[in-house]
Amino acid sequence: MSKARIISLLNQKGGVGKTTTTVNLAAGFAAAGNKVLVIDLDPQTHLGLHFGIEESAASVYDLLMDESITVNDALVNARENIDLVTSEVDLAAAESELASKTDRHDLLSKKIIPILDDYDYILIDCPPSLGLLTINALAASKELIVPMQTHFLALQGVSRLFETVQMLVGGLNPDLEVTGIVLCMHEKNTKLAREVVDDLQQFFDSSRDSNVPWSNCVIFDPPIRRNVKLAEAPSFGQTIFDYEPDCAGAKDYAKLAESVMATTREVTIETIKPTKTIEVVSPTEAVPTEVENEST
Ligand SMILES: Nc1ncnc2c1ncn2[C@@H]1O[C@H](COP(=O)(O)OP(=O)(O)OP(=O)(O)O)[C@@H](O)[C@H]1O
Ligand SMILES: [Mg+2]
Repeated sequence: MSKARIISLLNQKGGVGKTTTTVNLAAGFAAAGNKVLVIDLDPQTHLGLHFGIEESAASVYDLLMDESITVNDALVNARENIDLVTSEVDLAAAESELASKTDRHDLLSKKIIPILDDYDYILIDCPPSLGLLTINALAASKELIVPMQTHFLALQGVSRLFETVQMLVGGLNPDLEVTGIVLCMHEKNTKLAREVVDDLQQFFDSSRDSNVPWSNCVIFDPPIRRNVKLAEAPSFGQTIFDYEPDCAGAKDYAKLAESVMATTREVTIETIKPTKTIEVVSPTEAVPTEVENEST
């Protein structure tokens, strides 16, 4: 088995903190001496901008669409210990171009096989949709981390996402597990945030002894506080550790990186009796081949 932990950062809702979390987790892992590959699967191309990198010889679009392109052809060195596969706006067209390919679900998964031993972590920043690009990310991953905001309807979004994951686990990728939730732009003193976190915790507690991909899922500690420095850093092409290493955002992401590094797939969590379950939306609503951009 390869050493790399392959983690997709996914939430079909837009603007919840996926890219911010991908960049700063990658920087946190790299600072601890890990070799990290980050892959931008979002046509918005934000991941490269966060690292101050706009172009590369080949993008993830070329990687998926051109059989002869390898990950090594596409990667750029973004920082010490961090390599990046960039995206491009043309990637938006890949959703429909991929639809005619028979291996459309596992193109990325096949492409990363040769480099799995070169990295400790491979992080995939997903677009805000449950389309074919996201399916490729999930098929290639061993783990899923869900950045989210504790907003009204956040739980419905998460359960819908999990329904899609469950469908995939049944077919394409039986090994995929939801490792954890990252609470982003968190305002812990609001009543709504506390209620959403309590409901989430009860949902996970009630899943501990069931055979679902989120049965070991944790709500990572610490939550990431709302911090304007995190919103400013990308415009300078910098991670939060480059930009303002002593700010609250840097402290939160440094601790979060430690928490994620401390989790292993083998972890067994004591079974806790369910107290409340969340109504999960109908699986027919989570159709993985349709793009549904829920950007807000
Ligand atoms: N903890 C935070 N505090 C303040 N601003 C934040 C924080 N986390 C993220 N942001 C800002 O919120 C916005 C959305 O974050 P981000 O781009 O990471 O979300 P996303 O889920 O990747 O979005 P998309 O779905 O469009 O890809 C960005 O402007 C980002 O700088
Ligand atoms: Mg993003």
